[in-house]
Amino acid sequence: KNIQLDITKATQFLQADAIAAYEPKVKAAQEALENGTCPGNDFLGWLHLPSSITPDFIGELNATAQVLRENCEVVVVAGIGGSYLGARTVIEALSNSFQWLLNDKKNPVILFAGNNIGEDYLAEMCAYLADKKFGVINISKSGTTTETALAFRLLKKQCEDQRGKDMARKVIVAVTDAQKGAARTTADKEGYKSFIIPDNVGGRFSVLTPVGLLPIAVAGFDIAQLVAGAADMEKATAVDVPFMENPSAVYAACRNALYAEGKKIEILVNYQPKLHYLNEWWKQLYGESEGKDQKGIFPAAVDFTTDLHSMGQWIQDGERTIFETVISIEQPNHKVLFPSDDENLDGLNFLAGKRVDEVNKMAELGTQLAHVDGGVPNMRLSVPVLNEYYLGQIIYFFEKACSISGNLLGVNTFNQPGVEAYKKNMFALLNKPGYEKESEAIRARLNK
Ligand code: PA5
Repeated sequence: KNIQLDITKATQFLQADAIAAYEPKVKAAQEALENGTCPGNDFLGWLHLPSSITPDFIGELNATAQVLRENCEVVVVAGIGGSYLGARTVIEALSNSFQWLLNDKKNPVILFAGNNIGEDYLAEMCAYLADKKFGVINISKSGTTTETALAFRLLKKQCEDQRGKDMARKVIVAVTDAQKGAARTTADKEGYKSFIIPDNVGGRFSVLTPVGLLPIAVAGFDIAQLVAGAADMEKATAVDVPFMENPSAVYAACRNALYAEGKKIEILVNYQPKLHYLNEWWKQLYGESEGKDQKGIFPAAVDFTTDLHSMGQWIQDGERTIFETVISIEQPNHKVLFPSDDENLDGLNFLAGKRVDEVNKMAELGTQLAHVDGGVPNMRLSVPVLNEYYLGQIIYFFEKACSISGNLLGVNTFNQPGVEAYKKNMFALLNKPGYEKESEAIRARLNK
């Protein structure tokens, strides 16, 4: 059974033939992807990636993961954007919600760094690591990203000081470009084990490369199953699958049809706190892929029912420019029944004997009805259970849909020219060598 997309609560806001009208455009978009004729066609390595990953490669990743697992109580994953969000999504979705409080001798604690420039964050992390046997996975495709490089310099030094050069060499792994960048230079010079990020896979499409697979394996999860789920979704969304049976095609069509009707904001919704980072990964995937040329649906996200008590008001009653896509997990992995209480002081005996998830599901259904009544189109992605296999399906489903959707919008889905603007200013302000002219210009501007 695959994940299922239901668009009936969205199409009621559209003309009867609105989705069908997208069929030829979606087909053309899919063919352009397959034939490599779309904009950004040098970044299509993710398209048939799941089906091309071999058991040997999974074995090599698991073997390296095992070295880290055997030699580290804590593993720090240094990376930002596409170089960390996918791994964090899967690890948080599958881990115990209180993982960091468990005295789990089987699995190392996974920490994330290099995704911000918070001095307190780094200071507190380094202090926590001071008495730990820790290792580092340094992930950067360019190998030069400031946030990650900064954290890695600190972590490398601390690891060498604490554990000695030889052990540091064993527990530091690089995931980077085959040739370019400082991360590659360092890895080669120090003799770190390293994995290559293929040239033709962009950051936000790289979770099924070692960028995501290695940290996920280190955390103790089954990467073969993750890849199997993605490979099955690759088949389910292939170019020869009829339009209405292809969930990625239908999702891409539906969100673009809604956008054309003035629904400029899409809100990804979950009802499981463990999926918070799926929101973050999805926001990056869609925001960085589509938000260009002054176009693009703004990707927002909420965790329900938590955010029903905050953003719920806006969604129910605010400006009618939004639609929702809900990720619904059919079966939780645990079972908790509400107990009966003789005194019933809290008045909750009407729930006695019910599962907590039944209440969650009724909250979900009640919210869907209320939001649709309030003018918010609603799509729903139903996922049988939260495990590696279905996370693999979800990842590939969204990647494929994003690439079709970007094509429908008429943008290059795979570039991100807009992210350079802040870097240029930051480097100019920090007097980075090579930025002398920009430094001068920016100072003149600030001193005006
Ligand atoms: O999607 C992207 O390409 C970006 O978000 C990158 O993943 C991010 O900027 C990190 O880049 P790098 O892996 O080069 O450090």
